[in-house]
Amino acid sequence: GLWVRNLRLKRRLPGPFAWPVVGNAMQLGQMPHITFARLAKKYGNVYQIRLGCSDIVVLNGDRAIRQALVEHSTAFAGRPNFVSFQMISGGRSMTFTNYSKQWKAHRKIAQSSLRAFSSANSQTKKAFEQHITVEAMELAQLFLRHSTDGRYFDPAHGFTVAAANIMCALCFGKRYGHDDLEFRNLLKKVNKFGETVGAGSLVDVMPWLQSFPNPVRSVYENFKNLNEEFFAFVKDKVAQHRESFSPDVTRDMSDAIINVIEHGKDSGLTKDFVEATVTDLIGAGQDTTSTFMQWILLLLVKYPDMQTKLHELIDKVVGPDRLPTVEDRSSLAYLDAFIYETMRFTSFVPVTIPHSTTSDVTVDGLHIPKDTVVFINQWSVNHDTLKWKDPDIFDPTRFLDENGSLDKDVTNRVMIFSTGKRRCIGNQIAKVQVFLFTAVLLHQCSFESNPSQPLTLDCSYGLTLKPLRFCVSAKLRGKLLGLVS
Ligand code: HEM
Repeated sequence: GLWVRNLRLKRRLPGPFAWPVVGNAMQLGQMPHITFARLAKKYGNVYQIRLGCSDIVVLNGDRAIRQALVEHSTAFAGRPNFVSFQMISGGRSMTFTNYSKQWKAHRKIAQSSLRAFSSANSQTKKAFEQHITVEAMELAQLFLRHSTDGRYFDPAHGFTVAAANIMCALCFGKRYGHDDLEFRNLLKKVNKFGETVGAGSLVDVMPWLQSFPNPVRSVYENFKNLNEEFFAFVKDKVAQHRESFSPDVTRDMSDAIINVIEHGKDSGLTKDFVEATVTDLIGAGQDTTSTFMQWILLLLVKYPDMQTKLHELIDKVVGPDRLPTVEDRSSLAYLDAFIYETMRFTSFVPVTIPHSTTSDVTVDGLHIPKDTVVFINQWSVNHDTLKWKDPDIFDPTRFLDENGSLDKDVTNRVMIFSTGKRRCIGNQIAKVQVFLFTAVLLHQCSFESNPSQPLTLDCSYGLTLKPLRFCVSAKLRGKLLGLVS
C-alpha cells in the first residue's frame, strides 16, 4: 500500500552500522558530542544512530540545527518518554515532558513568574541584581578566607552554593550559608543530575540493563533518590508559603506561582504543579550557572593576560570606590566577549536535553518519522568551521567589532541556550548573573592557579560538561567593599 511507497520514495537516514542489542552504544566514547561531530563528517549533518532499543537522529552544524529548530519548530518541540524523565519534579516536570497543550500552559507560567522577579520593572531588576551582588561578595570573602597564606583551594563547591542561593532567593526569599551542611549535601547529590539525563546516557535506551545487578541499575536508583530528595526540599518550602500566603503581597516566585496556579482563573494546571515548577526552575538555574562560573574562573587562570586586561578595564570603568553594576555592561564589552567566548569554546551544555519529533518532518531532504528521539549537538554549532575561524582557539576578541563594542551578529551565532520552542527560558537571567558575578569577583580579587599543578581543560561529560577538579588562590586587590544598597 501507500506506506510501502512512502518508504521507497524517502531516503533512509544515513548512519553507522548498528550492532545487535547495543547498537552504537560502545562507539560513543567519553565525549559523545565530539564523536557525533566526527560522524557528521562521514555521514552528513543529519544521520541516525542506534542506542540499545532506540533509533536516534543526531543533528549537527549551524545550518541543519537552525533549520530544524526554527523552521520546523513544532515538529521538533517534543521530549522522549524516557523513564528517568518521569522521576523528575515529582513526575510533573515542564522541562522533561512531551509537547502538549498542558506543557504550553506550564511553560508560560514558569516564564512569566521568572520575568516578574528578574526583569519586569526597574524595581525587580534592582532587587535581582542585589541578590547576585550579595552572593558574589559572600563568595569573594569565602575565596579569600580559603586563600589565607597563599593556599590553593577547589572553588567548585562555592559556586554550587552561590548559584543555588540566587535561585533560592528568587523562589523562597531565602539564602543559605556556605557552611550549612544539610544544604551542601543536598546540592552535592543534585550535582549528579546531569549524568543521567545528558544525551547518550544509556539508562533509558537499554532498560534491560536494569534487570541485572550492575552499575547502570544503581545509576537509576541514585537518580530516583536525588530527585525525590530535592523535590521534598522544595515541597516543604512551598507548603510553608501556602500557609502564610496572602493574595495582596507576592513575596517571591513561590508566591507568584501559587497565585497563578491556585488563585488565577483556570490556569489549566492542578495545585501540585506549583512545587514541580519551582523544582524545575531551581534545578535548571543551579547546575548550569555554577558550571558556567567554574569554566569562567578556570579560563581566567589559564589565560592570566586576559585576566589582567579585565582588571585594568574594570579599574578604569568602575574604579575602587564602588562595586560594578549592570549599568557598566556596555562599557565592559571585553568582559561580555570573554563570557561569550567561554560559552562558545567550552559549549558546556554540549547537547541539548533530548528532543523528540511531534510529527513526520523533513530536514536537509531527509525524512524523520514522528516520535523519533533527536539529539541536538550544540557543540558542533559553536565549532562549525563554516561559521568560526579557528574554533578551537580561545579568543574573546572574535566578539568585538572595530570600535571594541560587542558584535551582535557574532554573539547570535553562539548556541548554548538552544533555540526554537524548547529554548531555555533562563537565558537573560543567566547572562546577567554571570556578568555581575564575574565583574564583582574580578573587582575584588585576582586569581591564580597552582604553578605546581598543570591546568587542563579536560572535563566530565553529562548534560553539562564539568571541568575536572582544579585549584586556585585568590588575592584581595583593593579594599573589600561593603554592600551599597
Ligand atoms: C532548558 C541551557 C540557565 C530554565 C535549557 C536547555 C538548554 C539550557 C540547552 C534545553 C533546551 C532544549 O532542549 O532544546 C542553559 C544554560 C544556562 C541555563 C547554558 C546557564 C548559563 C537557566 C536558568 C533557568 C533555566 C537560570 C531558570 C531559572 C530552563 C528551563 C528549561 C531550560 C525551564 C526547559 C525549557 C523547556 O523544556 O521548554 N536550558 N540554561 N535555565 N532552561 Fe536553561
